[in-house]
Amino acid sequence: MANKRTLITGITGQDGSYLAEFLLSKDYEVFGLVRRTSTVNYERIKHIEDKITLISGDLLDQNSLINAIKESNPDEVYNLASQSFIPTSWKQPVFTGEATALGVARVLDAIRTVNPKIKFYQASSSEMFGAAPPPQNEKTPFRPRSPYAAAKVYAYWMTANYREGYQIFACNGILFNHESPRRGQTFVTRKITRALADILVGKQKKLYLGNLEAKRDWGYAPEYVETMWLMLQQDEPDDYVVGTGEVHAVKEFLEETFSYANLDWREYVEIDPRYFRPTEAEYLLADPAKAREKLGWEPKITFRELIKIMTDADMEAAGLKPVGEGKAILEKKFGGWHQWQANMSMGNGRSGQETG
Ligand code: NAP
Ligand code: GDD
Repeated sequence: MANKRTLITGITGQDGSYLAEFLLSKDYEVFGLVRRTSTVNYERIKHIEDKITLISGDLLDQNSLINAIKESNPDEVYNLASQSFIPTSWKQPVFTGEATALGVARVLDAIRTVNPKIKFYQASSSEMFGAAPPPQNEKTPFRPRSPYAAAKVYAYWMTANYREGYQIFACNGILFNHESPRRGQTFVTRKITRALADILVGKQKKLYLGNLEAKRDWGYAPEYVETMWLMLQQDEPDDYVVGTGEVHAVKEFLEETFSYANLDWREYVEIDPRYFRPTEAEYLLADPAKAREKLGWEPKITFRELIKIMTDADMEAAGLKPVGEGKAILEKKFGGWHQWQANMSMGNGRSGQETG
């Protein structure tokens, strides 16, 4: 039987890069949608670039999406592209709506037009729950608390409507926060682990943060991309909440990270009101019972292990000898398609592939 083909939007992002690796390990032919930028930003996929095909396109451009789907002729489309940073969604709400909300309508309609048999995964978000009381599951009503969350709610319902209205095999993965050494540097986890490494090498003295009381359900990204694939392998399309079922405050993430390197975070951290948000999702905690039962999915990496993996990676990237526990955890628990060395694809690389 011929290999399956997939088109991943957002392949240059954290999740897209891990999903591409995972699908390559399953013998998929992988195509990735990339938008034109003035400097090439393929650092997360540079280690697999010769195994994938990149296609130029943008969620804001309908024709480019139709062409990308025609060119890749996929069995499955994973829509991971979005403007994903919540503070930016407050500064650029209209652009965020264009990419994160309408972009999804464009991809869905391109699938309907070119080939409605293509299976579709939408990267929905726990941020949609916003102010809804925890724990949150598939039945929890959405109470979005940011322009990003509101855009994701629109995208969620478009996915459900194309499933019901056009019988497209479309799934929403409602994923809670998932992190890794490839996490964007402005998200709080990576901002903290990176700052610790910079403090240790003497490049940074202080770390400025916002709301330390916010609570999140943090997991390890490579494990989460496996659930995306699992959703599209089920007999029927459906929506799933994915998270660890464990919650921690930002302050706890700080405490654990700094104590891993024998430092006291209180000596380095200052609160900067610039990082407070107009409204906040204060308490996001997954009830992942359905994913556990129907997809057979159980996360292996714990909160403390996640911190050790990310901190080791940032220490290594800063030229330090890592404490080493994170590396060992990964080797012990996560062999197979995901290895330490690949995790280190987070620096600045240039690309060989050109898209026009
Ligand atoms: P990320 O690292 O910010 O990656 C976003 C990707 O989207 C990048 O490849 C980016 O391309 C691409 N993109 C942005 N605007 C685009 C446009 N107009 N056209 C084409 N591509 C565009 O995000 P992530 O953490 O991997 O998350 C993946 C998806 O899951 C996102 O939709 C996010 O909202 C959602 N999500 C993430 C989490 C999480 O905890 N990570 C949780 C729930 C849901 P460039 O590289 O060119 O910028
Ligand atoms: N980024 C950031 N920077 N967040 C901070 C800071 C800071 O200096 N200080 C405190 N925080 C708090 C935020 O207010 C928020 O409550 C929490 O740390 C997590 O912020 P982020 O890491 O930026 O992630 P997020 O939860 O807002 O959004 C991420 O997760 C969503 C899923 O719930 C993103 O990946 C979204 O795309 C994703 O949908």
